[in-house]
Amino acid sequence: MKSQGLVGVVGAGYVGIATATVLASWGLATVLVENNPDRFALLGERRIPFFEPELEKVLVEVAESGTLRFSRTLEDLADADVVLVCVGTPPTATGALDLMALEQVVERLVEVARRGAVIVIKSTVPPGTTTRLAGVVATRRPDLPLVSCPEFLQEGSCLDDVRRPSRVVVGGADATACRKVAALFAPGGAPVIITDATSAELVKYGANAFPATKISFVNELSHFCDLVGADVTVVAAGIGADPRIGPAFLRAGLGFGGSCFPKDVHALEDLGASLGYQSLLLKACSEINAQQKDRVVAKIRDALGGTLRGRRVAVLGVAFKPGTDDLRQAPALDVVGKLIAEGALVAATDPVAAPGPPELPREATFVADVYRCIEGADALLLATEWPEYRSLDWERVRSLMHGNVIVDGRNFLDGVRLVELRFDYHGVGRPALSRPTSRSDDAAGPGPAR
Ligand SMILES: NC(=O)c1ccc[n+]([C@@H]2O[C@H](COP(=O)([O-])OP(=O)(O)OC[C@H]3O[C@@H](n4cnc5c(N)ncnc54)[C@H](O)[C@@H]3O)[C@@H](O)[C@H]2O)c1
Repeated sequence: MKSQGLVGVVGAGYVGIATATVLASWGLATVLVENNPDRFALLGERRIPFFEPELEKVLVEVAESGTLRFSRTLEDLADADVVLVCVGTPPTATGALDLMALEQVVERLVEVARRGAVIVIKSTVPPGTTTRLAGVVATRRPDLPLVSCPEFLQEGSCLDDVRRPSRVVVGGADATACRKVAALFAPGGAPVIITDATSAELVKYGANAFPATKISFVNELSHFCDLVGADVTVVAAGIGADPRIGPAFLRAGLGFGGSCFPKDVHALEDLGASLGYQSLLLKACSEINAQQKDRVVAKIRDALGGTLRGRRVAVLGVAFKPGTDDLRQAPALDVVGKLIAEGALVAATDPVAAPGPPELPREATFVADVYRCIEGADALLLATEWPEYRSLDWERVRSLMHGNVIVDGRNFLDGVRLVELRFDYHGVGRPALSRPTSRSDDAAGPGPAR
């Protein structure tokens, strides 16, 4: 591709590492700055601090070729033409976003950036933030344009999402700066939307709040299914087949988690509140999401005869979704806390994530081996739909468990087969399945419990 100047990327998280690696793989000289000593040391060993195997492979290639370099200091970006800021914007205890890291980086770039360098906010920030920061920067360095270019990648497919984005959205007051940023991502071949910074920021929030709302919508339907005895997997398939709706994010279960959906839905709701608008839809979206965990805990409690005290529950999967080891806002961890609060003895497992305190409550044990985790359990909760859990040796699982209750928090397992193996199977928003006990029923095979 056409030779360009140096690109700086700040923050070696999912967004920063994926962005820096892809830009370098397109031939752009890139420097990735990370100030956390442990993360920086890992990068020095050409390793990444989270589970994204494909991304790590390409990072090794571009680091070995010298196109991607690592630094601990923003001073090393003094020659960069464009600096993409990808630091975290986590929620604080009050739910408001902590923009301190972002503001500190911008502040330092004002001191070190070369004349005319474009500062790009890739971190997810409340609408209005880039324009506000641009105003502050302009008082000292009017030559430095600030641009918003939100990131839409998903964990588990970071590399492909950055390489081939569905769209590139760039917003800012300086049209030349916006075009320069869009040009960086041109090899991805995505349609480009150039707009003002606040609209760009709102695209990001809308793009996360919409699928989150879809998940809460199907979870709301799962409640109706429980009430009327329908099967939400069939209902969702029927709805999702409508081209106006589509099947994505229509899987009922434990609800959404991760570092983005919960945070972004809250942030948008908070933004409305700060401007005197109460968003009923976003409030309901979060409340339904919280309620799903209670519903699943209630299913386990009911299946175990009305109390969890002293009962052993094995939780399969703790990562917030398969394909990642990210535990931020993982629904499984929330459920573990609730089970423990009701006196259950909880063992959890995951094929990739390895939670310790403070993520996993002290009272719970983490057991890396799935079969050891299951040993002696009265009930098993499938909390994260890792593909390997579908193909477990379920006969072995049955022989290792003390009880026979399976609550499938993701409607992911083969309930009919599990019932044949004499499990008592409960999904979310679908009739429970259990093997009939009488001789005549036995002949009829498994069917919905009455
Ligand atoms: N994770 C996702 O799936 C995803 C997707 C799209 C957008 N986002 C948004 O992108 C932003 C980054 O998310 P993430 O998950 O990659 O974050 P992360 O928390 O995994 O990583 C951020 C990194 O920035 C580093 N950092 C902080 N201050 C620094 C400084 N002054 N200099 C150098 N490094 C510094 C931190 O040490 C950390 O390694 C957030 O705003 C997030 O909401 C995340």
